[in-house]
Amino acid sequence: MSPYAHITGWGMSVPERILTNEELAKMVDTDDAWIVERTGIRQRYIASPQDTSASLATEAALQALKVANIKPSDVDLIIVSTSSPEHIFPATACLVQDRIGANKAGAFDLSAACSGFIYALNVATNAIQCGSIKTALVVGTETLSRMVNWKDRGTCILFGDGAGAFVLQAAEEPGGLLSAVMRSDGSGGDALSLPAGGSRLPTSLATVAEGQHYIHMNGREVYRFATRVMSQATLEAVEKANLKIDDINLLIPHQANQRIIEAAARNLNMPLERVVINVDRYGNTSTASIPIATVEAINEGRLHPGDRVVFVGFGAGLTWGAAVALWNGPFAGKRKVRPVSYRIWARLRSILRRLVRHIEGLIWGRYT
Ligand code: ACO
Repeated sequence: MSPYAHITGWGMSVPERILTNEELAKMVDTDDAWIVERTGIRQRYIASPQDTSASLATEAALQALKVANIKPSDVDLIIVSTSSPEHIFPATACLVQDRIGANKAGAFDLSAACSGFIYALNVATNAIQCGSIKTALVVGTETLSRMVNWKDRGTCILFGDGAGAFVLQAAEEPGGLLSAVMRSDGSGGDALSLPAGGSRLPTSLATVAEGQHYIHMNGREVYRFATRVMSQATLEAVEKANLKIDDINLLIPHQANQRIIEAAARNLNMPLERVVINVDRYGNTSTASIPIATVEAINEGRLHPGDRVVFVGFGAGLTWGAAVALWNGPFAGKRKVRPVSYRIWARLRSILRRLVRHIEGLIWGRYT
């Protein structure tokens, strides 16, 4: 029988700087009352020049390893879901691999916008279930504040920065991800896009002058799409897990807009007490929103071993998806792992490897 992929670790990280609606009202023609009424958002965290998608991801990942009580070298695969990678390549996942010292892990980025964390959970689970790996680190991280036009009131009020991470581990006992659905509709891609900077429209003075390097969004179209697919995807995933919606203890939706979440809960006949909402404090952190909301739910005592939880999200692409999990928590283990010490070793290891590469270059000659 194929193993189950248990969620045994979790962590999150947000920048220090909080940007309130009142501050935004000094930057664009908006006000706190409008933003709260239309979105439920009151504040968001914004990356400082030192924060990057990889630095936030690294913090969240180390916390997740600490909870799971495993060493970075135990990780076989790192998937970083992000729409704001540090570069087109190398993958942000490789930067995280280097910074945590996961010296036996494969690493790649996954691009499915705000649905990415669900896609990544499903891909990691499948890799565990088919036996190719035993332990995966799944991270959702964003610094979308770097891609927002701070003069566009239609988008700049929505997004915030942050990262969240899960550790997934193989086990024979039932638990972890029970089912998942992943869907897409590329015909709606222009509803939410970042037009320039890729191979279709490489960055140039003209693309910058036209603001094509910013997020472009048709808010109403995305809203209509989101309210339709959130409940649909939830029901599909629940049915696939041979469960009923009443069996679900907690719904952890993508945090884009309080009205979208409430509409999904209404469509599912689910009381809001069983729905996690923290969009008021974080804004839309895209692919990081589901793991951040999960970590908060755990810290608030809302998620317990034995609970059945649904993660559901939607985003650019268009993409959407949902996953059902049986919550268990970390495996019992004796040794205590100290992630901070691993971080120092990872730094030393990275410097050493660069030095070796440099010396090899001196010996064998370098291309310039
Ligand atoms: N402050 C004040 N007024 C505003 C603001 C603002 N920040 N933004 C827009 N308005 C105005 C508009 O100009 C419009 O004025 P008009 O009627 O004179 O033309 C009016 O408010 C209504 O605008 P709408 O766009 O219809 O407002 P709506 O109620 O749809 O709310 C919003 C806009 C919040 C963007 C909503 O459409 C939404 O949340 N959509 C979904 C967006 C989303 O979730 N995106 C993320 C997807 S996930 C991912 O992949 C990253």
